[in-house]
Amino acid sequence: MILAANLKCNHTRASFEQYAKALEEGLAGGISREDEILVFPPASAFCARVKNFTQGAQNFYPAAHGSFTGEIGGDMLAEFDVKTVLIGHSERRAILGESAELIREKFSFAAARGWRIVFCVGEDEAAFAQNCSEEFVAAQLEGIDLKYRNLILAYEPVWAIGTGRSAQCEQIEKMLRSLRTKSSAPLLYGGSVNAENIAKICAIKGCDGVLVGTASWDASKFLELIRVVSHRYTSLP
Ligand code: PGA
Repeated sequence: MILAANLKCNHTRASFEQYAKALEEGLAGGISREDEILVFPPASAFCARVKNFTQGAQNFYPAAHGSFTGEIGGDMLAEFDVKTVLIGHSERRAILGESAELIREKFSFAAARGWRIVFCVGEDEAAFAQNCSEEFVAAQLEGIDLKYRNLILAYEPVWAIGTGRSAQCEQIEKMLRSLRTKSSAPLLYGGSVNAENIAKICAIKGCDGVLVGTASWDASKFLELIRVVSHRYTSLP
């Protein structure tokens, strides 16, 4: 399983240092070789070195450097050895106004560097209500190289993110099945994943892991989630 923590705009440099330390210690006993932990902290909190998990970037501008006020370029990520990135998260699409064109540019930039891309897709409430989730997601995938070797796809319905209202297993399975017809990339689900529902979600056919927001912001809670799905995870009592 792939367990990814999206810390969003939470954690200072000081608090993420504690978070990373707790995670490093918690994972030191080892997890199953089939499991992988990705953590996306705010860029201001990147740690210089991490061992037991992979550090990724929530955002970047598709340039190594340049006149892009407020943005972070490839050179800045390289300084922290960050080669894993989130692209297409609904909060960046909706709140920050990222267009499909910018998202495609970010994808091409990251793919040209061989970075691991966690590409997020998911329908909004209206499309879900109209039973148009598949069409909505298909449109988000237009122009995206679904054969890219270092790709992970995350299905995250907008209405399930941060609402405490996770999608039903049938909906998740249906959407993962649809994504599977388009790509052989690992498929994640995200949207109100928590300690109560993670086992059920990870047991869904075709589900290769989860992208967790709220329930990952506390390191001990994220370790709890990891423990539920990683069979060889031994270091917690
Ligand atoms: P959530 O966020 O777990 O708080 O719903 C998920 C995400 O935004 O990736």
